[in-house]
Amino acid sequence: MGSGIVELMALAGCSVTLAEIDSGAIEAARGRLEKSLGRALERGKIDEAAHAAASGNIGYETELIALADCDLVVEAVVEVEAVKHQIFSTLDGLMSSPDAVLASNTSSIPIATIAASTTRPDRVLGMHFFNPAPVQKLVELIPSLLTSDATIDRVDAFATDVLGKTTIRAKDNGGFVVNKLLVPYLMAGIRMFEAGEAAAADIDTGMKLGCAHPMGPLELCDLIGLDVIADVAESLHAEYAEPLYAPPPLLKRMVTAGLHGRKTGRGFYEY
Ligand SMILES: NC(=O)c1ccc[n+]([C@@H]2O[C@H](COP(=O)([O-])OP(=O)(O)OC[C@H]3O[C@@H](n4cnc5c(N)ncnc54)[C@H](O)[C@@H]3O)[C@@H](O)[C@H]2O)c1
Repeated sequence: MGSGIVELMALAGCSVTLAEIDSGAIEAARGRLEKSLGRALERGKIDEAAHAAASGNIGYETELIALADCDLVVEAVVEVEAVKHQIFSTLDGLMSSPDAVLASNTSSIPIATIAASTTRPDRVLGMHFFNPAPVQKLVELIPSLLTSDATIDRVDAFATDVLGKTTIRAKDNGGFVVNKLLVPYLMAGIRMFEAGEAAAADIDTGMKLGCAHPMGPLELCDLIGLDVIADVAESLHAEYAEPLYAPPPLLKRMVTAGLHGRKTGRGFYEY
């Protein structure tokens, strides 16, 4: 998601820095970005000038200090509360502008929880992009009880006017609007497959042709990443304590086995 968000911002003309955990992760992100921008050029979605400008707008860094002068940081690390806390607490201590906004792309963790590791909860909010970020039109904005109106209005204007997205606003309840509705459906699709009620392809074809969904639930899990969706389901289950959010045993076994979907070459399908 991080590379997709960087690509989107670079194409919109922003100077953007991608920070990753180490040089190996930087090279992987650079490869993804170059491939994606190259494909956009090949398909005529952007011209040579836009391709060069977008590529030139991106910096790559392994230290968070490189983000100190940014106006906005969008965190997109793994969906693990402790890791988000560590990143937000570090960023809080190094941002140079008092107006800098710290946003999280979290799918499910309450923003108040993340903001608690900072001294600036009024300038922390959820800015939830969808996969792939350059293509999907929605950005979900989530203020916590402590986010200021000025912060949410500024980020809304940026998402709409600069990035060209449509925004919706959601209360700070785990999963917000989209994942609170989507995750129980995805878990139900996995349970149906796990129980042998239908083949994976039949479940997916059923929802595509029967309900006009662009992807079936199992294909969508493979796109999202089974490790990510399992973490998201765990976090929603912790928030609501309702069985419909609980990750089914099959999902947990697939994550342990390294079958994480498209990104590892195998999930419910092979790639
Ligand atoms: N996958 C989706 O479809 C999707 C959609 C919307 C939002 N999200 C959210 O976006 C976030 C990232 O999800 P993803 O699918 O891109 O996951 P991913 O596993 O593909 O990427 C996570 C990234 O975090 C980096 N990372 C891990 N620990 C780090 C640390 N301590 N410091 C810096 N970087 C670190 C990893 O190197 C990796 O690049 C999650 O919060 C997820 O819920 C995911």
